[in-house]
Amino acid sequence: MTTPTGPTSPAADLIARSNRLGADPRNTNYAGGNTSAKGTETDPVTGEPVELLWVKGSGGDLGTLTEKGLAVLRLDRMRALVDVYPGLDREDEMVAAFDYCLHGKGGAAPSIDTAMHGLVDAPHVDHLHPDAGIAIATAADGQELTATIFGDRVVWVPWRRPGFQLGLDIAEIKREFPQAVGCILGGHGITAWGETSEEAEENSLWIIETAAAHIAEHSRAEPFGPPLEGYAALPEAERRAKAAALAPTIRGIASADRAVVGHFTDAEVVLDFLAAAEHPRLAALGTSCPDHFLRTKVEPLVLDLPAEAPVEDCVARLGELAVTYRERYQAYYDRHATPDSPAIRGKDPLVVLVPGVGMFSFGKDKQTARVAGEFYVNAINVMRGAEGLSTYTPIEESEKFRIEYWALEEAKLQRMPAPKPLATRVALVTGAASGIGRATAEKLAAEGACVVVADLDLARAQAVAAEIGSADVAVGVQVDVSDAAAVQAMVDAAVLAFGGVDLVVNNAGLSLSRSLLETTERDWDLQHDVMAKGSFLVAQAAARAMIAQEMGGDIVYISSKNSVFAGPNNVAYGAAKADQAHQVRLLAAELGAHGIKVNGVNPDGVVQGSGIFAGGWGANRAAVYGVEEKDLGSFYAQRTILKREVLPGHIANAVFVLCGPEMTHTTGLHVPVDAGVAAAFLR
Ligand SMILES: NC(=O)c1ccc[n+]([C@@H]2O[C@H](COP(=O)([O-])OP(=O)(O)OC[C@H]3O[C@@H](n4cnc5c(N)ncnc54)[C@H](O)[C@@H]3O)[C@@H](O)[C@H]2O)c1
Ligand SMILES: [Zn+2]
Repeated sequence: MTTPTGPTSPAADLIARSNRLGADPRNTNYAGGNTSAKGTETDPVTGEPVELLWVKGSGGDLGTLTEKGLAVLRLDRMRALVDVYPGLDREDEMVAAFDYCLHGKGGAAPSIDTAMHGLVDAPHVDHLHPDAGIAIATAADGQELTATIFGDRVVWVPWRRPGFQLGLDIAEIKREFPQAVGCILGGHGITAWGETSEEAEENSLWIIETAAAHIAEHSRAEPFGPPLEGYAALPEAERRAKAAALAPTIRGIASADRAVVGHFTDAEVVLDFLAAAEHPRLAALGTSCPDHFLRTKVEPLVLDLPAEAPVEDCVARLGELAVTYRERYQAYYDRHATPDSPAIRGKDPLVVLVPGVGMFSFGKDKQTARVAGEFYVNAINVMRGAEGLSTYTPIEESEKFRIEYWALEEAKLQRMPAPKPLATRVALVTGAASGIGRATAEKLAAEGACVVVADLDLARAQAVAAEIGSADVAVGVQVDVSDAAAVQAMVDAAVLAFGGVDLVVNNAGLSLSRSLLETTERDWDLQHDVMAKGSFLVAQAAARAMIAQEMGGDIVYISSKNSVFAGPNNVAYGAAKADQAHQVRLLAAELGAHGIKVNGVNPDGVVQGSGIFAGGWGANRAAVYGVEEKDLGSFYAQRTILKREVLPGHIANAVFVLCGPEMTHTTGLHVPVDAGVAAAFLR
């Protein structure tokens, strides 16, 4: 692209303005809204001036918009589309036509809102989804409210699905009402304009702040109705415990048609909404702004039990409500689908509300799940504002369907890259701050899993998680796997972070090389507590969650060559490893009924990155073999059949294969990853 981005270029001003607007969540929801600027550049083809439109393209967020996120169109060509526009029922064809207006290559694909930006005769245009603006836009008397609040400076535009016609409508309004600085788009959001970038920004902020101030001043007390007896928020520790106890069941419900990752929030705004009398009626009305309901579905699933209801009652009731939810969604689809509608995309809720506890939201990855929750919080704010002044009146259900199953929306979904092999799976790796566990956590994340990095050492676990990625990908938690309460807390942390757990790697371990006579009772207990008992406790707590999810699962034990190979100075370690190895077979036999596979990996001689080797064991082994400690890895390699050094990544690869999409029919297996040690062959 030849777009100059000097300090005063239209594109640079536009990016700066967009970043400022997008930085404040009161102005627009995440990735919601778009902005534009028009200006003149020299056409590199003719050397003549050419009028251009820079507009935020499809995808991405205003707060972090860069030049790459802009589409650049020739204004003359874009506006010439008016002459070939075939009318409302074929307006979608105009989106493909935008591609023929592009100026140079690169940049983002023009979005559906491009028409509004290009056709409105103002050099700078903002289209935003502010909660306060949508509150007016969804009030039953939104049109009158708009006149009362803004006089003739802001014009009401009745709901219309975004597209070319909406662009024409708004352009017409701008011509007809020269004193107007913007409009409220019924059911949807706001659009504002200005002669300069500063003026557009001022006008946007003025509309948002004026709407918010009006709501603050005129809203009735208790817009969500009086408190509902028994529905107040539980104290924090209690509600977190209840959330963790319910999370796997709820994720299972949300994953009935397609597996999803979860996000939980107990933000005050959610708890307050659920504590008030009108929440069932309002929740059933669903969200309104197209951005909101595309991620939240037309309505959430609301548990209709008080905060103190026991977990078992909640689980039973959620099961009933899930059936009703799916029936209602199917009925909604059947009411509105036409022969050319895309197929139904799944009947499960994306938002589940639990009074006294909080909100669970779901998506194909953690970010999508988190954003769905953020959008429902936006929707709660919208409902509060609208109910405070008037009656919340979202767009018609038929219009929601037209957006949700829009051919353009379907095309967007079809263009999405294929998911990675472990996408939507939540992995929990113990002892993941170092060596094999760390490599395994990295590998599982690289293959698309969300990963809980659990270790005795919290600081190192968090550091490893941070290196893997943001909290949408990996989180670090503290655990002593030999302590049942700590193990339960770890699984609770996992299900609160990602909604549930699917893939557990029992890797935490340590090694004391001592002869029978030197091995103390404490040595024996430590080895068995961490490895034999620790992996039992982890498998038990994780299996409980997996069984509640009804989504199957994987448990992998990092056992050892030493679980089958016998040598001196290894009685406590080797016996504990043999115990782990037999747990694999026992649990494979028991958990298969729940679709849970249990397998093991037997590593050997993994020196690099291993804390076990660095912590004295390596020096000891090197001394025994008469080599330098730094050469121990290659020394071990020479003892193997393949003469290859085994690295942590090789173990991680084996774990991935055992849990990955190809190995669906194998359970109770041990895979040696030792470069070939005949004495440890399994038979
Ligand atoms: N390195 C090898 O050659 C080899 C060979 C066979 C088996 N293994 C097994 O692989 C696993 C990982 O070994 P590594 O070489 O990567 O070791 P490592 O020391 O690098 O990593 C082990 C991790 O486990 C953690 N840990 C220890 N006790 C814990 C507890 N009670 N609770 C939670 N976390 C705890 C440690 O803090 C450490 O981060 C162990 O089970 C080990 O027995 C290793
Ligand atoms: Zn919009």
